[in-house]
Amino acid sequence: MPLTVPAWAAPAPGAPLEPTAITRRDIGERDVLIEIAHTGICHTDLHQVRADWGPGIFPMVPGHEITGTVTAAGPGVQRYALGDRVGVGCLVDSCRECSACRAGDEQYCARGHTATYNSRDRYGEPTQGGYSTHIVVDERYVVRIPDALELDRAAPLLCAGVTVHAPLVRRGAGAGTRVAVLGLGGLGHLAVQLAHAMGAEVTVLSRSPHKRDDALRLGAKAFATTSDPSVLGDLAGSFDLLLNTVSAGVDLDACLRLLAVDGTFVGLGVPDGPSAFGFFSLMLGRRSIEGSLFGSVAETQRTLDFCARTGVAAEIETVTADRINEAFDRLARGDVRYRFVIDAGSFSA
Ligand SMILES: NC(=O)c1ccc[n+]([C@@H]2O[C@H](COP(=O)([O-])OP(=O)(O)OC[C@H]3O[C@@H](n4cnc5c(N)ncnc54)[C@H](OP(=O)(O)O)[C@@H]3O)[C@@H](O)[C@H]2O)c1
Ligand SMILES: [Zn+2]
Ligand SMILES: [Zn+2]
Repeated sequence: MPLTVPAWAAPAPGAPLEPTAITRRDIGERDVLIEIAHTGICHTDLHQVRADWGPGIFPMVPGHEITGTVTAAGPGVQRYALGDRVGVGCLVDSCRECSACRAGDEQYCARGHTATYNSRDRYGEPTQGGYSTHIVVDERYVVRIPDALELDRAAPLLCAGVTVHAPLVRRGAGAGTRVAVLGLGGLGHLAVQLAHAMGAEVTVLSRSPHKRDDALRLGAKAFATTSDPSVLGDLAGSFDLLLNTVSAGVDLDACLRLLAVDGTFVGLGVPDGPSAFGFFSLMLGRRSIEGSLFGSVAETQRTLDFCARTGVAAEIETVTADRINEAFDRLARGDVRYRFVIDAGSFSA
């Protein structure tokens, strides 16, 4: 029987979130029902409820950094048992047939992956995210939370963590790699910890001088303020990899000049509109620009397992449901150290 559960939704683009009730689908053959413990607030949630990237599906229940416990399972479920600690990230389905899906890159599914919210599932119904008490997800899109990780501090790993870890792995970050992290927010503070744990030498580039001590504590070797052009000039040619986690436009030419020969700019943060750069910024250093979209289910599991081994976790401020709108306002102002996480118990309070 479909389950009606409490949730918080944005009723219209840009409107404050408010309490509501939503229906989760029947538990199918390979579905698990997850009782949500915590959900992180990603800057993408803010972009989506404001319809920054085009019209969305409203009412919209955001949330794609979900941790919780399996409380029911369909008859064909193989990987999880009742009581297992699990997580759900940015996607909950894909076609499973295209070359990207077969290669384990389901976030790049040729038919478009099904996002955890603001998307339509294979039955045509809108998906609704983790600002709720329960969610039903096919076990193929569920990951296991290692015992060493707390469910609250692990939640941001489901999106922010894998989004920065995947390109670090793909680009071979490790001893001898010089990594710059641009923007010290939810993604950025995990990027610093992960790159440091992988053995790379990390520099934080931030508009916020007061974050220097945090950056060094999280594992950065150096910190530079982006508002000071002379500082950036001194760093020209210094990095093999630059992870851009800024939630707004950046000066691409200035960023590219920071890269060494063969260096790569990894675009993770989403600017408001198109970005421009001069091709000489690439040619004078055989540099590359690449984009990267969160991670596959396998990459997400690898991030969680790596964090369990190395002790990396998000630094969080836990909020109750009635403080979501305040948290959104603070996130928009950059006033968060370094991720808001919602206590899902408060959705039914
Ligand atoms: N590629 C993906 O798959 C993916 C996944 C998740 C999120 N994202 C995107 O990544 C971006 C960051 O997400 P987040 O959750 O980490 O956000 P966040 O916690 O708000 O952090 C963003 C950071 O960017 C910097 N920043 C913000 N506005 C700025 C501005 N106007 N000018 C210069 N710097 C600014 C700030 O760092 P400083 O104060 O240190 O400068 C801020 O802390 C968002 O656009 C989000 O949608 C992409
Ligand atoms: Zn996200
Ligand atoms: Zn596919």
